[in-house]
Amino acid sequence: MEKSAKIVILTGAGISAESGLGTFRDEGGLWARHRIEDVATPEGFARNPDLVHGFYNARRTQAAAAAPNPAHQALARLQREHKGEVVIVTQNVDALHESSGAAQVLHMHGTLAGALCSACGHRWAAPLQMQTGQPCPACAAPAGRPDVVWFGEMPYFMEEIYAHLAGADLFAAIGTSGEVYPAAAFVDEAHLAGAHTVELNLEPSATASRFAERRFGPASEIVPDWVAELLT
Ligand code: OAD
Repeated sequence: MEKSAKIVILTGAGISAESGLGTFRDEGGLWARHRIEDVATPEGFARNPDLVHGFYNARRTQAAAAAPNPAHQALARLQREHKGEVVIVTQNVDALHESSGAAQVLHMHGTLAGALCSACGHRWAAPLQMQTGQPCPACAAPAGRPDVVWFGEMPYFMEEIYAHLAGADLFAAIGTSGEVYPAAAFVDEAHLAGAHTVELNLEPSATASRFAERRFGPASEIVPDWVAELLT
């Protein structure tokens, strides 16, 4: 790998699993216990905002108590020590990349740390417990919601992410099942741009065959090893 290579990394729930945060689709995962339509769609929020706030309040509380693991720390190290650009794109709504010291992190599915006014689009820092009808500090509408992207909504930073993929020399997907688009198609964009592609996951994802290289195991072990190789 060239010293100045541009590296784009996509992370998913699997990178935070060993920090104690549940994934979505593994056995006993969040989507086995909650219906996506109820807690992760605009329609679900309109039907029962208390239920949706309750779901994200519990996740916010759990995420606030979680600590980054060696996989997050290895990516922060890669950002610090690699001579070229290292862009982290995450589907995760926790802040474990940031708390491990990572600088450039694009939260394409939003963040638990944020509140969003569905009336005027203003954003502010979410309290640990959000309530239904939370007034917006900018327009006072009782329309506060978690600043997370729900199914049926457009993920954030897409133009910026595609621009990064178009310039990537190396693309890695870490701890993601490859079940959710558009993130699941980033490997194809990177491949078209001529990047080497690598999957790092506990087991082959739905998109594993589209990667040039695959490494399987717990993120806390395989990610630090991979980063150490890249930096030598
Ligand atoms: P998933 O729960 O779909 O997939 C997690 C992946 O991590 C699986 O492929 C696991 O095998 C792997 N995994 C589990 N433990 C691991 C470990 N210790 N080390 C490495 N890998 C491990 O989570 P995502 O792919 O992130 O979106 O899900 C994508 C999106 O679907 C989420 O952002 C969320 C969800 O619905 C929205 O809510 C909009």
